[in-house]
Amino acid sequence: MPYKEIRADFEHLRKLFIFPESEDRFIEFGQMILNMLHSYFREKGGIHSSVSLKSLEEMFSEISIPRGPHLLKDIFSEIEEKIISNSVKVSSPYYIGHMTSAIPYYSIFVEMIIAALNQNQVKIETAKASTFVERELICWIHRLIYNFNDEYYNSSIQNRNVSLGSVTLDGTLANLTALLIARNKAFPADGSFRGISEEGIAEAYKYYNVERSVVFVSRRGHYSIDKINGILGVGTRNIIKIPVDKYNKADVNLLKHEISKIEEHNKAGGARIKIIAIVAVAGSTETGNIDDLYEIRKCAESCGAHYHVDAAWGGPVLFVDQYRTLFRGIELADSVTFDSHKLLYLPLSMGMVLFRNEKDPDFIKHNSTYILRKDSYDLGRFTVEGSRPFSALRPWVAMKVFGSEGFRLLFENAFKLTKFFQKSIINSSCFELLNIPELFIINYRFIPEQISDFIMETASSDSRGYDAEKIIEINTALNDINKDLHRHLRHEDNSFVSRTVLESTQYHGQMIVSLRAVTINPLTDDNILSEILLEQQKLGEMIFRDYSVRIDSIIKKPR
Ligand SMILES: Cc1ncc(COP(=O)(O)O)c(C=O)c1O
Repeated sequence: MPYKEIRADFEHLRKLFIFPESEDRFIEFGQMILNMLHSYFREKGGIHSSVSLKSLEEMFSEISIPRGPHLLKDIFSEIEEKIISNSVKVSSPYYIGHMTSAIPYYSIFVEMIIAALNQNQVKIETAKASTFVERELICWIHRLIYNFNDEYYNSSIQNRNVSLGSVTLDGTLANLTALLIARNKAFPADGSFRGISEEGIAEAYKYYNVERSVVFVSRRGHYSIDKINGILGVGTRNIIKIPVDKYNKADVNLLKHEISKIEEHNKAGGARIKIIAIVAVAGSTETGNIDDLYEIRKCAESCGAHYHVDAAWGGPVLFVDQYRTLFRGIELADSVTFDSHKLLYLPLSMGMVLFRNEKDPDFIKHNSTYILRKDSYDLGRFTVEGSRPFSALRPWVAMKVFGSEGFRLLFENAFKLTKFFQKSIINSSCFELLNIPELFIINYRFIPEQISDFIMETASSDSRGYDAEKIIEINTALNDINKDLHRHLRHEDNSFVSRTVLESTQYHGQMIVSLRAVTINPLTDDNILSEILLEQQKLGEMIFRDYSVRIDSIIKKPR
């Protein structure tokens, strides 16, 4: 260790727990941290820091807990030197690769308040005002989605016996909460059967004469749905993934077809297949597209399944009236996931799950004599998690600082950035747009100018003798080029877009390596986007030289 251990002294340690007797210490350390963060934010240059992963391994390879105490100022210096300077600058206007982006500076102070109060939202005894703040926030988001009347909200906002929704650690846990409710609803208590939660899956299937349960989700659904079905005992094999159309939306006709196959099976007698839930995506992780929420609702209704909309990413766009039509049908969902650390531009992490029917959370309601009292204000009665921080303060403050008008402006800006980027790709002779963005995610790839005509023609020429083998080979080479390009971009570290692999809706299902931009950062502008594309073009052209012989031989190959 570069700094010295100090002698363990109870009086010294005790002083760390209480507000310092001398105000100066608190202010002094506060100032030191603010200065540190301020210089981090102002620093120009590399996004990922040049430190190698190997060096980080070595830097953090002390295998024993430090024995003696250390001075706070030394630890803060260590944080500055080893951690802050080697963190990813996700707030950089050149960082356009993920949903994690810039946060408003005041939210750092809100984090301090959350930490200082240290409220535990699980029960009223450890969370007083914060319990009511959380309920107020949940009511606001519920209204944004479902928009029931004043009377409904006036009577439920602080009605401790109902839950309009829950705050969760993240989107995954919000989805988990929704699907847990769906599962319990599918196998409810009945006669001698006390419900799946109590009796377990085997008994539930026996009682209801079910051989298998399934959940439907689009192929573009988030991978949390797979994990959750593993956890819930539904089984990842029993998720039926619906292929998407060319707009990256779940193909509703294929969904209907799958449902009718199950209905046929059930009509034949014998053990049945139970459709627990249909999950639609409102802002898919890879392409940002929104399923046809209204039509999918009809499918869920027709087969009696719980209808969940995963709007972890796209939900906040509901603030913009003009774009609400994209979400038509969300107000009919039984449950909706909505994250605050994505499009609300807030620090990690907090999810929410909202329920159309305030009685649905009763399917997971639990009491415990020593902690969660029946009929109490304890929020923990309706949550999967136990101890929970007062994260609700973040969006609660944001709603007041920005207001729905403010969020509208932020999203209008994001729409403008997206349109600009999309247009730049379309107008360029060396990039191909791979999705039509509805929200702010753009998938594209570098295609050397020399072969862009060939690829455009073959892609749109089914009827004119499309050479499947050739296009597969070309796409494989392009996949390698784009992977290489991404590696080079990471190495240069001037900007960041992510990389993904999409099952193509254009090239007959072939897996296509794609660059993925998320254009939401209010600090990014058109000039920066042009700079980013120009760098990619130059690097792509350089890389192409190593591939030109291979590509040439594919193109010239006789059919
Ligand atoms: C559509 C969607 N759902 C769920 C999640 C999971 O959210 P979290 O990472 O907060 O658990 C994500 C994350 O990107 C997402 O995009």
